[in-house]
Amino acid sequence: MLWIKSGLFSVILIGVYWGYLFIQGSENVGRNLNIATAGVGIILICLSLVLSGITYFFDFADRFIVYRKYFGVWGFFTSLFHGLYTLQRMGAQRATSYILSAPPVFLYAVAALLVLLMLTIISNTTAARMLGNVWWRRLLRLGYVALLLGTLHFGLLRIDRWKTYLDSGFDGLPPSSLILALLVFATFGLRILLELALRIAKKT
Ligand code: HEM
Repeated sequence: MLWIKSGLFSVILIGVYWGYLFIQGSENVGRNLNIATAGVGIILICLSLVLSGITYFFDFADRFIVYRKYFGVWGFFTSLFHGLYTLQRMGAQRATSYILSAPPVFLYAVAALLVLLMLTIISNTTAARMLGNVWWRRLLRLGYVALLLGTLHFGLLRIDRWKTYLDSGFDGLPPSSLILALLVFATFGLRILLELALRIAKKT
């Protein structure tokens, strides 16, 4: 049931993201769907990571902690779909020059996918038992590394759009990727706050 609920939630998010791109004036249905799927991948990874912090600071959110794993795994599948779909649409020649391009946006994307794949494989109780609780929890923190790699990937691809938007004095709706970057920033910020709160609680 949790798989279905989180999957439906992901589909709704993709719809909202797609609508945002449409309102911005981008009318290419297939391309928008691909970009929306990529963006939702990042959102789901962020949601999966912020849930520990949110449930620590706000008791009302405790019931959502069960979704941590599901958001992370759907985040992997949506990012994977985006990556494969993009390569398939590019065709061999464009894909090769994209893969070899500098800065290595493709390498960051593949590295993010590999970390997410590893996290998906260990996101079950059998893996937790085999690895031991301490190592299992440590490995799960690599979700932040995947998020950083994914952010390098789309940040380098989109930084010119961010500059144009900021130089225009915030003219019109912000690029979707800029909103994603703020979400990523908030995710890391919350992690730092959680770490500080845990250390203070340990000392007292
Ligand atoms: C083989 C893997 C991948 C390839 C070839 C790839 C390629 C691309 C390309 C070409 C774009 C620009 C699309 C366009 O403008 O139409 C893009 C955007 C994006 N990609 Fe990837 N990508 C891959 C994996 C990933 C992964 C793993 C993530 C997340 C963890 C990700 C997140 C994003 C995001 C967030 C955007 C921008 C969305 C926006 O502008 O709103 N990609 N990617």
